Amino acid sequence: MLKLNTEMIEPFVAPEDLKKAKADAAEAFDTLVSGKGAGGNMTGWLDLPVSMSDTLISDCRMIANRWLGTLDVVVVIGIGGSFLGAKCALEAFSHSFASAGERNSPHIVFAGYSLSEDYMSDLLSYLKKKSYGLIVISKSGTTIEPALAFRILRMNMLKRFGAEDTRRRIVTVTDSSNGALRAMSEKYGYVSLSVPSNVGGRYSVLTAVGLLPIAVAGFDIERFIGGAREARECLMKKSEDNPAMIYAAYRNLMYRSGKKIEVFVNYHPKLKYLGEWLKQLFAESEGKDLKGLFPATLDFTTDLHSVGQYIQDGERIMFETSILAGSKEVEVIVPKSTDNLDGLDYLVGRTLEDINYMAEKGTRLAHTSGNVPNIYLVLEKIDEWNMGQLFYFFEFSCALSAYMLGVNPFDQPAVEVYKNNLYKLLGRPGYQDK
Ligand code: PA5
Repeated sequence: MLKLNTEMIEPFVAPEDLKKAKADAAEAFDTLVSGKGAGGNMTGWLDLPVSMSDTLISDCRMIANRWLGTLDVVVVIGIGGSFLGAKCALEAFSHSFASAGERNSPHIVFAGYSLSEDYMSDLLSYLKKKSYGLIVISKSGTTIEPALAFRILRMNMLKRFGAEDTRRRIVTVTDSSNGALRAMSEKYGYVSLSVPSNVGGRYSVLTAVGLLPIAVAGFDIERFIGGAREARECLMKKSEDNPAMIYAAYRNLMYRSGKKIEVFVNYHPKLKYLGEWLKQLFAESEGKDLKGLFPATLDFTTDLHSVGQYIQDGERIMFETSILAGSKEVEVIVPKSTDNLDGLDYLVGRTLEDINYMAEKGTRLAHTSGNVPNIYLVLEKIDEWNMGQLFYFFEFSCALSAYMLGVNPFDQPAVEVYKNNLYKLLGRPGYQDK
């Protein structure tokens, strides 16, 4: 199980405050697992690692096998919770320099997460000579960004491949009975997987929303679910040692002590999108009723050479949550050079992982001495099992934290304000008086 280390945040917290926060976390635990809190009908994600149907796993595998070797590219269409989990997982699992044609599985690209014309026109030209398929993910089936991307790509497909072949190239993931995407799936006979009604977008990575793109990309969804199952076993126990309860207690204390920002830090480019997923999870779950920590993300050591100055010496409004991970088995060792003109001979024989670890340690010490409390999580390595654990850990911690703040972790009413304005400006019928 991933490890939570609190030694560098403890000096910032009074023991009696910690005791009280832990008691509040225990109360939030009861609220969450009993399903009696606000949004309690949206806690289906808690049991996904143990209630996952074999049919879903075999459906994902069947679709992946059908497309293996037949499609060059699969475009995954979705936004927010229908995009970030899969994007984060694929970034984490893939070779850093993987590109189209290097693996047996289709190359996965994403669309429908912005309205950029440049992006869409680049995508259309990239797809021109490719045999491609679509996975269209939208729980509501009505979100404008993915709906528009789907319309454009579906029309392109129909022109290139004809109706029957297009039907075989599209899989949808949406609500089991409602929404335009469900209606289209039925009318045109697309293979379609359902998102459980009791699981919201940002908690849905362990449904078809995350599992299907991961399987189609050729990664091991059973190990991914297995990792989440191990995390669930640990986190569903209400105890002093429950890492999600401990983390939620510290986050809450940081907020109460006046911190405004939680900075999620990684030391591996493969975890960049983990930060994007975390930002959505925490911002949409906690940022309401004029409350909540603002989630920010930094990539170290890259950003130590830019934002590092502010962290060390700017306003004291943040604390850090670092996600540390061991590397894969392949070592990269600093070689001897002929002249030592770069002055790096003192590192000869050491691995980059070891040097990265020293950078992590040095940074934590520097930031702690600059009054930036630091909490960190350690993964054994970046793979399906560990990422399954990590997703579940953060979902659980986030829901606890929101209950500790006194807000509903599972709604996002404020997002409608932007949508209504956009629809009104675009002249959507029924929105002129909103
Ligand atoms: O977490 C959420 O609920 C949102 O971020 C949604 O995932 C996002 O708005 C996309 O919604 P949908 O899947 O309905 O297209």
